Amino acid sequence: MASNQVGNPVVGKDFYGREAFVNLVAEKFKTGHVLLAAPRRFGKTSVMFNLMDKPRWNYRIVHADLEHFTEPSELITHLIEQIARNDVLVKLLKGLTWLPQQLWGFLKRHIDEVGLVGVKIKLKEQLRSCWQERGEELFRTLAQSPETIIFFLDEFPMMIDRMARSSTHREDASTLLRWLRALRQNPETTKVRFLIAGSIGIDRVLNQLGEIKSINDFETLQLEPFSPKIASAFLADLAREHQPPLALSSPCKRKMLTLIGTPVPYFLQILFAEIAKTFVQEGEKLTPAYVERIYRDKVLGSHCKTYFDYYYSRLSDYYDPDTTKAARRILRELAVEGRLTRDACWQFFKTIVGNQADLEDFNRVMTDLENDFYLRFAADARQYQFSCSLLRDWWLRHYGMSSGD
Ligand SMILES: Nc1ncnc2c1ncn2[C@@H]1O[C@H](COP(=O)(O)OP(=O)(O)OP(=O)(O)O)[C@@H](O)[C@H]1O
Ligand SMILES: [Mg+2]
Repeated sequence: MASNQVGNPVVGKDFYGREAFVNLVAEKFKTGHVLLAAPRRFGKTSVMFNLMDKPRWNYRIVHADLEHFTEPSELITHLIEQIARNDVLVKLLKGLTWLPQQLWGFLKRHIDEVGLVGVKIKLKEQLRSCWQERGEELFRTLAQSPETIIFFLDEFPMMIDRMARSSTHREDASTLLRWLRALRQNPETTKVRFLIAGSIGIDRVLNQLGEIKSINDFETLQLEPFSPKIASAFLADLAREHQPPLALSSPCKRKMLTLIGTPVPYFLQILFAEIAKTFVQEGEKLTPAYVERIYRDKVLGSHCKTYFDYYYSRLSDYYDPDTTKAARRILRELAVEGRLTRDACWQFFKTIVGNQADLEDFNRVMTDLENDFYLRFAADARQYQFSCSLLRDWWLRHYGMSSGD
């Protein structure tokens, strides 16, 4: 039975409803590489942790979170560190010609200690000018393992984006992408697989670099929201596991699912957490009206605002100020109106960006907003709308007022 967890990746029995998806990913690794695609907070890292905790076949996983890296030498250093944490794979590191014997021994002995920081800095410096040859040797060495080794490169798009935005490392971003592709095609490293995933869309990042082809050998597996059936069973499970157990009737569950709209596990967890907290304090019987009150007062209220704030703030990380303003304007109009045609969205875009508005830029923004789970295009009505009722309500509550644009 799953317990209520808001925030960190979920593991063990708290990891709910993804068995079929995880099996599919594991199966794909038998023949190739996987791009795990999903918007923020859909459960990507939890899927990776489950593949590590419960191996589906005889593979070994090296998990690396790349969120903060800006240069390839940091990536290789971190991979070495993660390999050194694996009792079996660490032995293979001994075969590396460029890793001095004392450094290898130190790494192995002090992997969990503070002294490791110094070793990592040294290693990074050693790798800076020759990361390609040395990195290649690392992968060739690992490929000698009798088992398949799968590298989980979590937040890979964020690392590439960070590199692309830095004047000193922009070139490195393209070089690294091409180097990794060559590595995947090298017959000597066929035992090595990669999974890449990230909380920002990889297509946007690669398109900006003109490198979209660099990952066309990855098979995309899309992690979807829960199905309504799984979402309902999940809520029942959370209610049973809660102390004291929550009497969540079917009408209450239905109400919760209707309010959220699209059953993203994270959103279910947030609403459940708020209901449970209020229930424990007020002790009132749960009814659909009570659920709705908690949704409006708590989930959409100021103290839950930070759970969803990245939807607002990251637009300014992506775009220049005018485009950011235009994207926010379109979202505001959609929150108010419910649905808008593509042409209506284009008119709002032009109102903000002015005469120099470019249709290509507009197209890119609309694609990003679709990929990142803000919007969906209802093909039947040929109109855009919010992907999820909760996000529309949240946008309306916090950003629904005109700021004069
Ligand atoms: N299978 C699941 N069962 C239950 N809850 C889940 C599941 N997957 C995700 N969640 C909920 O979503 C939250 C985020 O999960 P996770 O960190 O795995 O997502 P993510 O896609 O890696 O997020 P980010 O894009 O921010 O890196 C969890 O704290 C939990 O509340
Ligand atoms: Mg994650």
